[in-house]
Amino acid sequence: MYKNITGMKDIMPNEINKWHFVENNIKKVFKLYNYKELRTPVLEFTALFKRGVGEGTDIVEKEMYSFNDRNGKSLSLRPEGTASTVRAYINSKDYANSPLTKYYYMGEMYRHERPQKGRYRAFNQIGAEFFGPSTPASDFEVIQMVEDILKSIKLKDYKFYINSIGCKNCRPSHKKALVEYLTPHKEELCKDCQRRLDTNPMRIIDCKIDGCKRIAENAPKISNFYCESCSTHNNELLSLLENSNINYEIDEKIVRGLDYYVKTTFEVRVSESILGSQNTIIGGGRYNNLVKELGGPNVDAIGFGIGTERIILALSEEIKETPLNYAVVILGKESLSKALELVHKLRNKNFTVDIDYRLGSLKSQMRWANKNNAQKVIIIGEEELKNNIYIEKNMQTSEQIKKTFDD
Ligand code: HAM
Repeated sequence: MYKNITGMKDIMPNEINKWHFVENNIKKVFKLYNYKELRTPVLEFTALFKRGVGEGTDIVEKEMYSFNDRNGKSLSLRPEGTASTVRAYINSKDYANSPLTKYYYMGEMYRHERPQKGRYRAFNQIGAEFFGPSTPASDFEVIQMVEDILKSIKLKDYKFYINSIGCKNCRPSHKKALVEYLTPHKEELCKDCQRRLDTNPMRIIDCKIDGCKRIAENAPKISNFYCESCSTHNNELLSLLENSNINYEIDEKIVRGLDYYVKTTFEVRVSESILGSQNTIIGGGRYNNLVKELGGPNVDAIGFGIGTERIILALSEEIKETPLNYAVVILGKESLSKALELVHKLRNKNFTVDIDYRLGSLKSQMRWANKNNAQKVIIIGEEELKNNIYIEKNMQTSEQIKKTFDD
């Protein structure tokens, strides 16, 4: 027997209703906000993620599934959706058609992380990317759309955490102050953070290791270093949020694990009592330099990624399986061709219909109908066939009526 690869799960039909509920409701919200679906391949050149997500990030350094193809090219399974979306946006030249472009995507991503509840090596993201806008109002619209998405799937007890991580104008002076503060503590930092001190000191602020957390508490805050543009942008976004019903908190620890972010970053979390330590269900933010960095025009952008498995785990809503409209019970081989004709007609009229092709006894076919949650059972026997009729049984009321095939 072959087993699944560790951290890569099948989504079985008995779980799929929740997936359809989530995906269909979220698609409706995307439509309301004028987002169009984009589908990209799961494989990309490794160089895209190195450049897009960042060489010094955990994702690129430790978590990608990379291999050489038969031509010796290094390819990687996508660890996230933003880099591929930007690549497709640049390749398609969609920016030339419209100064504002809104894409959404749904698909599997791959990261070689340590699996645990809510953290897998193959997982799904529902993401959205908005290319073109630079205003705080567009950040607000994205956050409001996330709120509408969570409402559409009736998720409860979540909260937005908002931050601004500055931009290329204000980050260098913050970085300098941060390194000056952290260097004397280098030996007390975890191995990853010792490395981050050289590659990406800001990441130390959101390290989950206790010792690093303690040191990071008194580290210089980016908010004391904002340039005028970042400060105005952030204040305008916060005043829009203040005037909304969105439940949020400012959290200067949200620096995010991908290199492309500038200005606004945000996460949505549910309580640890629901999801344990992997309780961040959504992460996103602005990435104003990435399109240019990957060879496109100078276009600002903002987006987010929803961890689909995580929101499904956090859903309190019980999603009932959709019942089968008709199960057809066939008694005697002679009834088969008439039954098949009827089944096809019903399906063409948009009814869900199935047959127990084992063609066992009435009892076993009825048991099968019950197991399949059938609302009605059609019974076609030899006697009925002679009279051009069949029996229709309502499984809820047990009422039986006779109908002619011409009906
Ligand atoms: P991210 O924070 O790396 O951001 O991932 C987004 C979400 O994907 C997380 O909040 C989490 O719910 C889910 N997720 C991440 N890793 C795993 C995993 N191993 N197992 C299960 N779920 C996971 C991004 O990927 C960015 N591309 C988001 C974005 C889009 N920013 C701008 N546009």
